[in-house]
Amino acid sequence: MHSSTAPPLFLLLLLISCSFPSHDVVLAALAGENPFTPKGYVVRYWKKQISNNLPEPSFLLDKASPLTAAEYASFCKLVNDQNALSTHLPLFCTKANLICFPDLSPSLEKHMDNVDFATYLNKNFTNYGGDRLGGVDSFKNYSDGDNVVSDNFRRYSRDAVGHNEKFTSYATEVNMADQSFSGYGTASTGGDGEFSNYNHGVNVPNLRFNEYADNSNGRKQIFTEYTTDINAGDQTFTSYGKNGNGATNEFTNYGKNSNVMGSNFKNYGETGNGGNDTFTSYGDETNNPQNTFKNYGAEGNSAVESFKSYRSDSNVGGDDFRSYGKQSNAAQMDFATYAQDVTDGNTKFSGYGEDASAQTVDFKQYALNTTFKAYAKEGVTFASYTNESAAAAASLAAKGKKVNRWAVEPGKFFREEMLKSGSVMPMPDIRDKMPKRSFLPRAIVTKLPFSTSKIDELKNIFHAENDSSMTSMLVNSLNECERAPSPGETKRCVASIEDMIDFATSVLGRNVAVRTTENTQGSNGNITIGQVKGINGGNVTKSVSCHQSLFPYLVYYCHSVPKVRVYEADILDAESKARINHGVAICHLDTSSWSPGHGAFIALGSGPGKIEVCHWIFENDMTWTVAD
Ligand SMILES: *[C@@H]1O[C@H](CO)[C@@H](O)[C@H](O)[C@H]1NC(C)=O
Ligand SMILES: *[C@@H]1O[C@H](CO)[C@@H](O)[C@H](O)[C@H]1NC(C)=O
Ligand SMILES: *[C@@H]1O[C@H](CO)[C@@H](O)[C@H](O)[C@H]1NC(C)=O
Ligand SMILES: *[C@@H]1O[C@H](CO)[C@@H](O)[C@H](O)[C@H]1NC(C)=O
Ligand SMILES: *[C@@H]1O[C@H](CO)[C@@H](O)[C@H](O)[C@H]1NC(C)=O
Ligand SMILES: *[C@@H]1O[C@H](CO)[C@@H](O)[C@H](O)[C@H]1NC(C)=O
Ligand SMILES: *[C@@H]1O[C@H](CO)[C@@H](O)[C@H](O)[C@H]1NC(C)=O
Ligand SMILES: *[C@@H]1O[C@H](CO)[C@@H](O)[C@H](O)[C@H]1NC(C)=O
Repeated sequence: MHSSTAPPLFLLLLLISCSFPSHDVVLAALAGENPFTPKGYVVRYWKKQISNNLPEPSFLLDKASPLTAAEYASFCKLVNDQNALSTHLPLFCTKANLICFPDLSPSLEKHMDNVDFATYLNKNFTNYGGDRLGGVDSFKNYSDGDNVVSDNFRRYSRDAVGHNEKFTSYATEVNMADQSFSGYGTASTGGDGEFSNYNHGVNVPNLRFNEYADNSNGRKQIFTEYTTDINAGDQTFTSYGKNGNGATNEFTNYGKNSNVMGSNFKNYGETGNGGNDTFTSYGDETNNPQNTFKNYGAEGNSAVESFKSYRSDSNVGGDDFRSYGKQSNAAQMDFATYAQDVTDGNTKFSGYGEDASAQTVDFKQYALNTTFKAYAKEGVTFASYTNESAAAAASLAAKGKKVNRWAVEPGKFFREEMLKSGSVMPMPDIRDKMPKRSFLPRAIVTKLPFSTSKIDELKNIFHAENDSSMTSMLVNSLNECERAPSPGETKRCVASIEDMIDFATSVLGRNVAVRTTENTQGSNGNITIGQVKGINGGNVTKSVSCHQSLFPYLVYYCHSVPKVRVYEADILDAESKARINHGVAICHLDTSSWSPGHGAFIALGSGPGKIEVCHWIFENDMTWTVAD
């Protein structure tokens, strides 16, 4: 060190555990900035690696870790011992601006009053409301609009009689919801569980109903407007309503208009008596829903299952009915307008209604590419059933109906010809919907495990329980990072700004510029395009685009795809013509490897390789090119 005073202790620790090149530190100190913050380090790295004199962009620098020099030094030390880091997780999450699930507050055990839970958050309800007689617990506007919500209901309302629960407007518009109901309403008699407007608009819900209402009598569960408008979530119903008597389940408007929803019903209503399940407008207008019914209603007596307007107007997706209604007695299944107007979906029935007696199955206007295996032949009616999806599509075309109504947001994809001054077009919502987070400093993040093979270590560090949203978030992002690149694609997941600079300069050289759309103005409205500038003189260019992944700290999925043109355009208010934004758009000229079900083709028509497709760079995403 060139300093005359002794370095403070934290600096020694920093130099030992994070090994900074000391000449950089000295240069930065001479330049008058605090050289020991993560941000200071990023600024130096930018100046060193990027050959032009473009300043480091503030939108990128703002994502650097907010740790102070002292915090950085102490966490640097801590990260050498993963157990120590795990122990200090809440502090680490707060200081480093990460997303972590809150550790649940102590259990509200054996609370017996009628309660209105409007303002609670992140609770552990264990042994709550057991042996209740009558009464109502109301969860209304519970956990609305929060960022990350985790609630745990265990042995809730067990052995209760005539007890009602109402979950209304529960956890709507939150970012990530993690709810688990296990042993809920077990052995209860009567009573209603009502879930309405539950988890509406959630980004990544993970809902688990385990041993829910098993052995109950005459209990009724109503799911209305449940998980509508969600993005990429899963619902699991395991051993739901098993051995129940006269249970009624209604699912209405369940999962409507969602993107990539997964539902799993396992051992659902098994050996029940007189169950009555109705699925109305279930999974309608969804994109790529995957529903699995396994051992559903097996060995039941006199069950009535109705699927009405089920998975209609959906895109892609599939249903898998396995051992459905097997060995049941006098079961009645009605499929009315099931999977109508589905694009490219498929349905599998295996072991369906096998060894069942006196079963009636009624398919009305059922249209799909369906496989039936071991399907009980007797008592099955197909009224205007269309066997082949090709035939279904033809009959729909004959009726002049649009085959798909799953709405792709207007303006999400557009043609290149729209990018000229004076064009009026809708603008999608380009706001970043993911939780706000920061990068970790490179010196810290390189010491953390980052692969599916190290998932157990990661779960330990981030307090992720099995089956929790945190675990699926870790696994999903790592899987995407480990996926082999598509033909012509070069990709890398980067967990620090320095790694991003390294990847971009490895593809493009050191004379680079990075751009993003200036702000989010114009979202969901109509815009007029102002002045347009093509990068690289409007010629095809190499570029590296980086998209956020969902991870506790910022991780970007960066990739270089061949044959693109990149544009900058002023965005004007369509009415006043005032300049409200400066957009960056990218046009993919080669779409031949995209799937036919890609949202771009749903929105614009046509198919893979036949058209170019353009889109805006959304908030917090970015694209790198060679500097002009
Ligand atoms: C909830 O509370 C119960 C009883 O106090 C406890 O056994 C359980 O571990 C808690 N669960 C969580 C997730 O904190
Ligand atoms: C509760 O949620 C409903 C539906 O989202 C909303 O209309 C109502 O204003 C909310 N009430 C409060 C007190 O926030
Ligand atoms: C089943 O439940 C639905 C809705 O709750 C009701 O309309 C219908 O009458 C019930 N069917 C039988 C056979 O109980
Ligand atoms: C039906 O689905 C099967 C399996 O997913 C697929 O191989 C087949 O091409 C599909 N048939 C039609 C007509 O879409
Ligand atoms: C569907 O059509 C195929 C041949 O076109 C036939 O073998 C099969 O039995 C039909 N399936 C049903 C359930 O009608
Ligand atoms: C969680 O899953 C792992 C396997 O991934 C298993 O070894 C462990 O026992 C499970 N823990 C609990 C509490 O179920
Ligand atoms: C945008 O313009 C279209 C066509 O003029 C109109 O139907 C739509 O309502 C407008 N959207 C907004 C958000 O103003
Ligand atoms: C764009 O491409 C054309 C034709 O290939 C070439 O003449 C022109 O110099 C290129 N412009 C830039 C800025 O590279």
